[in-house]
Amino acid sequence: MYVCVCKAITMKSFEEALQQGGSYKDVCHRLGVGSDCGICLHDAYQEAQNSGELVTNAAKDSTSKTPTSKF
Ligand code: FES
Repeated sequence: MYVCVCKAITMKSFEEALQQGGSYKDVCHRLGVGSDCGICLHDAYQEAQNSGELVTNAAKDSTSKTPTSKF
């Protein structure tokens, strides 16, 4: 299952990137998640929240905010 169709980023690769470290924002930037249409940002954020990575990595990125769509 894809978390980001535009960049062909699977949920598995997104989860693995979160586990490797970095904030939600860093991981999205590194993989390109949300860099095209942006419609995937909400689902990616939810996945990061569900996996607990936002809690773990929140302190690393003080700029973490709920994603907003480009629309
Ligand atoms: S689905 Fe992720 S940028 Fe379009």
